[in-house]
Amino acid sequence: MERLFITDVAPRDGLQNQPVLVGLDTKLTLIDRLVAAGVESIEATSFVSPKAVPQMADAGELIPRVRTQHPGLRASALVPNMKGLERAHAAGAEEIAVVLSATEIMNLKNINMGLAQATDVSEQTVREAIRLGLRTRAYVAVAFDCPFEGPTSLDAVHTCVARMAEAGAQEIVIADTIGSASPGAVSERLTALLRDLPADRLAVHFHDTRGMAVANAWAALQAGIRRFDASVGGIGGCPFAPGAAGNLATEDLVLMAEASGYTTGISLDSLLDIIDFAETALQRPLGGRSVAWQRKQRSKIAS
Ligand code: COA
Ligand code: ZN
Repeated sequence: MERLFITDVAPRDGLQNQPVLVGLDTKLTLIDRLVAAGVESIEATSFVSPKAVPQMADAGELIPRVRTQHPGLRASALVPNMKGLERAHAAGAEEIAVVLSATEIMNLKNINMGLAQATDVSEQTVREAIRLGLRTRAYVAVAFDCPFEGPTSLDAVHTCVARMAEAGAQEIVIADTIGSASPGAVSERLTALLRDLPADRLAVHFHDTRGMAVANAWAALQAGIRRFDASVGGIGGCPFAPGAAGNLATEDLVLMAEASGYTTGISLDSLLDIIDFAETALQRPLGGRSVAWQRKQRSKIAS
C-alpha cells in the first residue's frame, strides 16, 4: 500500500488562534500523544512576535523539550523573519517553515511586509536556515483566494513557489489559508505546479471552512501529491485571515486515506483519544466531519 505523509499542525496552526491560553505542559502532552499515535512530522510552534501571537510565546522553552523527548521526530517551527530563525536555531530547532502569502495585503496583515519584501525576507531566511543545516518548509499562503484581495492569480502563486524553490526550500506547502478552494481549483493549480516541481517537494495545507477539505485533499492526491498538513480534531484558524476556520482534520484525512487503500502510519483510535484530551484542554467540542461516526463505531466495537 502506498504511504501518505502527514504533518500535524495542531500545536501551531491549531493552537495559535484559540481563545484559551494553553500551557506548555498541555502542548507537550499533545505532541507526546501525536507521536504515540504514529505522527512523524509535527508543526510544533512558531517564533513570532509574542505581541502578535501570545499563544506561541513559549516557543523557546517548547522546542528543547520536544527535541529531548522525541529525537527522531520532525518538529517544525514557523519563523516569519531572520529574528525568528535566530530564536529557533538558538532553541535547537532542526526544521523551520517560512510563510509567504501570494498577495500584497495578506503579507501586510500577517507579517507587516509587502509582497516584494516578504518574498526577499522569506528567501534570505530559507537560505540562512539551509546554511545552518536546518530542514526547510515554505508556505505559500492564500494560494487560492485572499480574504482581502479576492481570487489569487495562478501567476502570483507560481512566482512565490519558484522563488522559494530557487532558495532551496525542501518542501513548498500550497496553503488554502481561508478554506475557499474547490477540488477543481486544487486539481488545476497542482497539476500546473507539478510541471515545474517533483511531487516530493510539494505539500498541501487545507482549511475546512466550506466542508471541502477532504475533497480537496483527494483532488491533490489524484494530481500526485503525497504530503499533507492536517490538524487533529480540525483545530485551527488564522488570527490574521478573517474567515479562516479550522484545518483539515487529521482523522478525516487518515480515514479517507485508509478507506481508499493508502497507509499513513497513524492510528485513528489514538486520534480519537487525543480529540477527547484536546476538548478538555480547549474547553470546546472538536473533531472533523467524520468524528461523530468514528466515535459511534468505536462504542459499537467496545460494547
Ligand atoms: N520573534 C519575536 N519578536 C520579534 C520577531 C520574532 N520573529 N520579529 C520581530 N520581533 C520583535 C522586534 O524585536 C521588535 O521588538 P521590540 O518592540 O521589543 O523592539 C518588535 O517585534 C517589532 O519588530 P518589527 O521588525 O518592527 O516587527 P513588526 O512589528 O513589523 O512585526 C512580525 C513583524 C513578523 C514580527 C509580526 O508581524 C509577527 O510576529 N507576525 C506573525 C504572524 C503569525 O504568526 N501569523 C501566523 C502565521 S500564518
Ligand atoms: Zn493554516
